[in-house]
Order: sequence, then structure tokens, then C-alpha cells
Amino acid sequence: MKIMVAPSILSADFANLADEIASVSSADWLHIDVMDGVFVPNISIGIPVVASIRKATSMFLDVHLMITRPERYVAEFCRAGADLVVFHVEAAQPQDIFEAISIVKAEGKRVGLSVKPKTPASALAPYLGMLDVVLVMTVEPGFGGQRFMDDMLPKIRELRGVLDKVNPNCCIEVDGGIDPNTSRLVKDAGATVLVAGSAVFKMEDRAAAIESIRKS
Ligand code: DX5
Ligand code: ZN
Repeated sequence: MKIMVAPSILSADFANLADEIASVSSADWLHIDVMDGVFVPNISIGIPVVASIRKATSMFLDVHLMITRPERYVAEFCRAGADLVVFHVEAAQPQDIFEAISIVKAEGKRVGLSVKPKTPASALAPYLGMLDVVLVMTVEPGFGGQRFMDDMLPKIRELRGVLDKVNPNCCIEVDGGIDPNTSRLVKDAGATVLVAGSAVFKMEDRAAAIESIRKS
């Protein structure tokens, strides 16, 4: 599978968002972190901002919901312009996870499920056949700029092994502490979509930062 880089706008300057997004247009996806202050101890952005971003760019919008009971909001994020909606397996009851997956698919969008560091890969087992993306958190969700957890590498390998059997087209995305060094480790483990916040937005030359994560 092709290696893709998804800059996370959580590390961008929100007062200059259109310019910040334009500066990462050489990337493959744009990663948008939505936090509710309940599922994670931080609050970021919501539906109106996704709708505005949709008008400002033609990039593929990868919306990462860190919110409780995502089944309540997934349709609205699809209609705001998300191309992919990813939510957390820890955030809802199993029947509501199945429902949220169906809603996103009915909206014609791609769907993903994410696992926090302490959640085993096996928690995703009932859903793997229905997913376009599995997102493995390589930091505790909530904040940018944290240190990559290399003890997540076995989880990525395990998921790639299972997906190769049950859903080979499903890609593995990683999020947290990705830079040109850690990107090599996650690629070797089987990840193909690499989210990077601070490693892209703290650099002056964003295109070079994206390229070094992609090529490392
Ligand atoms: C954290 C977010 C990440 C964050 C990554 O909860 O899901 O997308 O922006 O930031 P870095 O790449 O700086 O670890
Ligand atoms: Zn994220």
C-alpha cells in the first residue's frame, strides 16, 4: 500500500487556518481532531469548523472524533464534508458502534475505528470486516507534541496480520509522536497512513517535513 501523510491541524495556528492548510497541500490527507472534553481532557473544534475547512480545500478530510457516543454526531460530520470519519471503540456500546459504522457508510463516506494505547487490538475484532481504516493511537489522545509510544508497534503488527486475512484493503493509520524517525518504525510494522501534527507544523518548510516523513 502507498504511504500517506496526514498533517494534524491541531498543531496549526487556528487564527490562520486557511493559510496553514494551504501550506500542507502536498500531503495526502488532512487530519482534523475533534475533542469533546469528556472522552479526552481537551476541547478542540467541531462541525462548523469542518464545514468551513471543506470550503477552503479540496484535500481529503480525515476527521478523528475523540468524543463520547459518536453515533450521535457521525452523520453531521459526514454532511459537513468529512471524507473519512474515525471514532473510538472505547467511546460507545457495541450496538452503537455498528450503527455509527452503518450511518457513515450510508452517507457514502469512509469509516474507521481507533484504539487508545491501553486498548488491545482484539477490541476491534467484531468490526474489522466493515472498516476502511484502523487508527492505532501511539500516544494517549488529547494533545499534540507527546512522545511516541514504541510499545504500540506489536499492536500495529498484530492488526496488520489479522487484517491481511479478514480485510486486506483496510489500511492502518497511526497518530501521535510521528516524525521522520518514528515513521520508519511504524511503516515497518505495517502502518501506511501517518498522522503528524507538531513534526509538520513546527517546521518552516512544511512540504519538506511531509516528504521526509513519507520517504524515511
Ligand atoms: C492527539 C491527536 C493527534 C495529534 C498528534 O490526540 O489525535 O492527531 O495532533 O500530534 P503529534 O503529531 O504532535 O503527536
Ligand atoms: Zn488525531
